Amino acid sequence: MEPSQIIAPSILAADFARLAEEVHAIEGAADWVHVDVMDNHFVPNLTIGLPVVQSLRKATSIPFDVHLMITDPERWAPGYAEAGAYNVTFHAEATDDPVALAKTLRAAGAKAGLAIDRDTSVEPYLDLLPHVDTVLIMTIKAGFGGQKFLPETLDKVRAVRRRITADNLEVRLEVDGGIAADTIEQAAEAGADAFVAGTAVYGAQNPAEAIRKLRALAGGVG
Ligand code: DX5
Ligand code: ZN
Repeated sequence: MEPSQIIAPSILAADFARLAEEVHAIEGAADWVHVDVMDNHFVPNLTIGLPVVQSLRKATSIPFDVHLMITDPERWAPGYAEAGAYNVTFHAEATDDPVALAKTLRAAGAKAGLAIDRDTSVEPYLDLLPHVDTVLIMTIKAGFGGQKFLPETLDKVRAVRRRITADNLEVRLEVDGGIAADTIEQAAEAGADAFVAGTAVYGAQNPAEAIRKLRALAGGVG
């Protein structure tokens, strides 16, 4: 059983030279490890890819939440599922057929996530919710960690939460970008139940303690 609220630290803010240690530092405190894959095409930044995920998968038992900020997700997403990712999220803006890709991911053994970037409206995607396991609403513009949280994006969180409730769907509603002690409460109030935090966790003196504080602010018990 998953806890009611998920805290997913993003290793984008970790020390890439010590990735395994950085993940060990959040074991027992984090629910998922958020892995930001960027290709310098979909977003103007380049991070890590499949070989790193394959190696890191062996170093920890925390479920991986892979966030693909890449063009042509059909080409790469299944590989992350096969590498043992728990959830693989691709961007709505990067594919013409999100339902087909979600199906492929589920067949490959992962949960399927649909991400909505800052400038994309969520309305066209609300009817697809029964086909995905996770919806990730960007609370910044995708591409870089350490940006300022944009409260206006929470209207999209509210719209997705309304649909999940109305249709009694089993969908995780995740927020990503600028989530910290001063923003997580608003995101939780808007209806989010999974919270990505990079800087707020790995920029802290004690990452595990930072996670516990975030969880308390989000109102989670688990
Ligand atoms: C940005 C990434 C985020 C990023 C969040 O495009 O998707 O996951 O790591 O970093 P913070 O929490 O620092 O905003
Ligand atoms: Zn992310």
